Amino acid sequence: MSTVVVTGTQWGDEGKGKIVDYLAQQADTVVRFQGGANAGHTVVVDGEAYKLRLMPSGILFKGSHCVVGNGVAFDPKVMLQEMDSLASRGIDLSGIRISNRAQVVLPYHRLMDGLGDEARGKNKVGTTKNGIGPCYVDRDNRIGIRVCDLVEKETFAQKLKENLAVKNRELALLYDHAPLDYDEILKEYEGYADRLRPYVCDTIALLDEEIKAGRKILFEGAQATMLDIDYGTYPYVTASHPVSGGVGVGCGVAPQKIDKVIGIVKAYCTRVGEGPFPTEQLNETGNRLREIGHEYGVVTGRPRRTGWLDACVVRYAGILSGIDYMAVTRLDILDDFDTIQMCTGYRYQGKLLNEIPASLKVLSEVEPVYETFAGWKTDITKVRKYEDLPKEARVYLERMAEVTGIRLGIVSVGPNRDETIVLANDIF
Ligand code: GDP
Ligand code: IMO
Ligand code: MG
Repeated sequence: MSTVVVTGTQWGDEGKGKIVDYLAQQADTVVRFQGGANAGHTVVVDGEAYKLRLMPSGILFKGSHCVVGNGVAFDPKVMLQEMDSLASRGIDLSGIRISNRAQVVLPYHRLMDGLGDEARGKNKVGTTKNGIGPCYVDRDNRIGIRVCDLVEKETFAQKLKENLAVKNRELALLYDHAPLDYDEILKEYEGYADRLRPYVCDTIALLDEEIKAGRKILFEGAQATMLDIDYGTYPYVTASHPVSGGVGVGCGVAPQKIDKVIGIVKAYCTRVGEGPFPTEQLNETGNRLREIGHEYGVVTGRPRRTGWLDACVVRYAGILSGIDYMAVTRLDILDDFDTIQMCTGYRYQGKLLNEIPASLKVLSEVEPVYETFAGWKTDITKVRKYEDLPKEARVYLERMAEVTGIRLGIVSVGPNRDETIVLANDIF
């Protein structure tokens, strides 16, 4: 098998970065296909943490190709900051390839993301204010600026002039905001273009060649199923397709070229931002999960909302993404709990539901049906073989596999690369 998709099954921050880095040990190429600098993927190697936002989590392996696909909302400022920070830590950047078709995030996108979300008042989404939604809106409105436009000096100058005229009118009319300065943005972005030009290419052709050559490719999802623009808790979602189907349109790889899909499942559940979260624990249990798990956002520092594992959501992710194996992360965070709960169904108006309700009214009123499990009360961070996990932990994991209908492939017991138990030997 040579192409593997990694996708989040919950509301993000499941530990996709850790698992991508782990699998990247065997991969030739790691590709981001959607989202942008709203992602925060932490990779820990020998106790040293790397916080990645746009950079594919394969960057720590010298010689790997790290591809930013056309489906990414590409923020050149963040990318260059990440490149500088990684270079200062001795990381080789020569494998970076940026799609010439990716859409560019501009200062007005970030500004309007923040102003627009605040203007919704109590209905705000709680976005990361990275300009992701407004950037994709411009793409869909066919006025976006792509990387190929950014690196063509005259094209960029002209497109920026046209767009900024409209954006400045919107800023004044909608938000009574002062105009942004054309020359300033032009100069800033011309500087980015000069530095990024050597990395820009047609990544469709590159990936096609690599697939034909049988090279091992890992597609790194950002965000997650329940934040998907169509399948998530709309409108409390991001503006892209984190499900595995996003790979097709997000980097030009056809569906039959995908060999395996790995769904990342945090052993409990978190959510940042607004929107329904049926298993949320607004109590001491939730506080313990947040404190033991250090559940604070990588990008925004916001405290994450916490709750028990929702197996209904994971089962839904399995259907949507065709997940072959689950990688369960952060099992060690549950080490000290006397009992652990798992939601295995939703009850609404006395009836068990068979699906995830589309209506937010219904979803916010469902009653989670919980099963209770005995905790293992043991430090599992040194365990490297599945059979060495405490029996209670195995019972919990096996019930998760049963309820979701997805096989267990990996269990992660710590943030470091080596704190990983592998059950499936046919991922790559
Ligand atoms: P991502 O956005 O899905 O890549 O996840 P984040 O990086 O935002 O959040 C996951 C956090 O959990 C990071 O700080 C990881 O280093 C950490 N992590 C990943 N797997 C494990 C694990 O099995 N145990 C523990 N304790 N931490 C983990
Ligand atoms: P990773 O890849 C968790 C959430 C935001 C907000 C909503 C929309 O690290 O798992 P956006 O800025 O995308 O328009 O915000 O989506 N969100 C995330 N939550 N992890 C992420 O990424 C997220 N990216 C966006 O908090 O609720
Ligand atoms: Mg994250």
